Amino acid sequence: MTENQTKIYKNKLVNIETYGCQMNFSDSEIVGSIMAEEGYQTIESAENADILFINTCSIRDNAEQRIRKRLKEIKRMKKDNPNLKVGILGCMAERLKQQLLDEEDVVDLIVGPDAYRDLPNLIKTVESGRRAINVLLSEEETYAEIEPVRLGSNKISAFISIMRGCENFCTYCVVPFTRGKERSRDPETILNEARDLLAKGYKEVTLLGQNVNSYSWESNATAVSFPELITLVAALSPLLRVRFATSHPKDISDELIKTIAKTPNICYAIHLPFQSGSNDVLKRMSRKYTREWYMDRIRTIKKHIPDCGLSTDIIAGFCGETEEDHKQTLSLMERVGYDYAFMFKYSERPNTIAQKKFKDDVSEEIKSRRLTEIIDLQQVLSLSANKQNIGKTFEVLVESFSKRSKEDLAGRNSQNKMVVFPKKDFNIGDYVIVKIKDCTAATLIGEAV
Ligand code: SAH
Ligand code: SF4
Ligand code: F3S
Repeated sequence: MTENQTKIYKNKLVNIETYGCQMNFSDSEIVGSIMAEEGYQTIESAENADILFINTCSIRDNAEQRIRKRLKEIKRMKKDNPNLKVGILGCMAERLKQQLLDEEDVVDLIVGPDAYRDLPNLIKTVESGRRAINVLLSEEETYAEIEPVRLGSNKISAFISIMRGCENFCTYCVVPFTRGKERSRDPETILNEARDLLAKGYKEVTLLGQNVNSYSWESNATAVSFPELITLVAALSPLLRVRFATSHPKDISDELIKTIAKTPNICYAIHLPFQSGSNDVLKRMSRKYTREWYMDRIRTIKKHIPDCGLSTDIIAGFCGETEEDHKQTLSLMERVGYDYAFMFKYSERPNTIAQKKFKDDVSEEIKSRRLTEIIDLQQVLSLSANKQNIGKTFEVLVESFSKRSKEDLAGRNSQNKMVVFPKKDFNIGDYVIVKIKDCTAATLIGEAV
């Protein structure tokens, strides 16, 4: 039998459960593709699987606790399916390494985010009844030429990973330790992936990276910056919408803002995490910008893209945060008027700079109260931002039926706001001009015009 035939006849089943950020979801699609090469078909449930992969997140303690709980459930599941092999992928694999194998006897395999190409070898070890681990980080790996299998896809919108890793070392953050050095992917392979998605009928791509706007490619003959890359992707077709996430405020250049402003199919939506409104806290976080600098970026965005959707990440209760610092976070939120925010309580992570250098001295009770105040304020801001859209018309890319009714469709406008409207003769994948009649804090409600 040739090698290819072996692969076809194997037909084993793998289920990939993904936690954490979009980068992890994108990585799971790369893992699915590597496994397909080995004759493994990706399935939606762990029930009949030969292998269960859990692609994990370490960003906050509760993210890891969730995985620990899930492993207890899987232990019970293994009683019905004793041949099931369990692999831990992603950031928790990288952070805990061998320790996780020692602590969790249900786990057969540990693979860090840069070691997925080694999966075929590791799987062979596991299939032969031994446990396996590879947590080597790489300075070059970008999985550049691997064509991801699209998991749980709506066939309209896809992620394209354009860079990996992070070297910013914000003091609270595990990512530089779990994802390693920053590296950018060959632009030609990014464009090929986007072309392929277009050919398959996709209408939207989101360019992904931990700090997507510090993308920078250099080889013998070419140098490509992020504004240049996003322009090249957008130029592939006027019918392709282009988004990107996440941006670090220190790298959001005037050139990038102007590029977004002048390119109709680059969406008017910027996710710009500010974390804290206090300069003292920002300094301890080592965010490398001040409140004033951040506000200047926001002013520049609003000047060039007056109707830009703005969203952010906020941390409540970082080490040494005073009541006055917290008030500055609330006042920055009000000044910007975000459409949406991801809001978290500070969670101390082992071996980060903050854990070594500062005391996690804001009590749980105060963290919770401050977070509630932040969430309550954002609720008001989201509703008020949405109300300003009543009476306006937007081009909406339809992604699905509305969760509430099959009579309605749901999609997003360029600003990344969810818009729901009566279906009539429209279909998933259509661009529809919708006039907004009403809203909630989370959704715009309208009618096609
Ligand atoms: N690279 C992105 C963020 C990735 S992590 C950026 O710098 O913007 C996503 C968010 O998780 C961060 O923006 C931050 O708000 C939050 N986060 C990271 N570490 C955290 C911690 N230790 N405790 C609480 N929130 C944290
Ligand atoms: Fe973490 Fe900061 Fe890097 Fe974002 S920029 S991933 S918060 S270290
Ligand atoms: Fe979590 Fe790793 Fe993403 S820690 S947020 S999965 S980079």
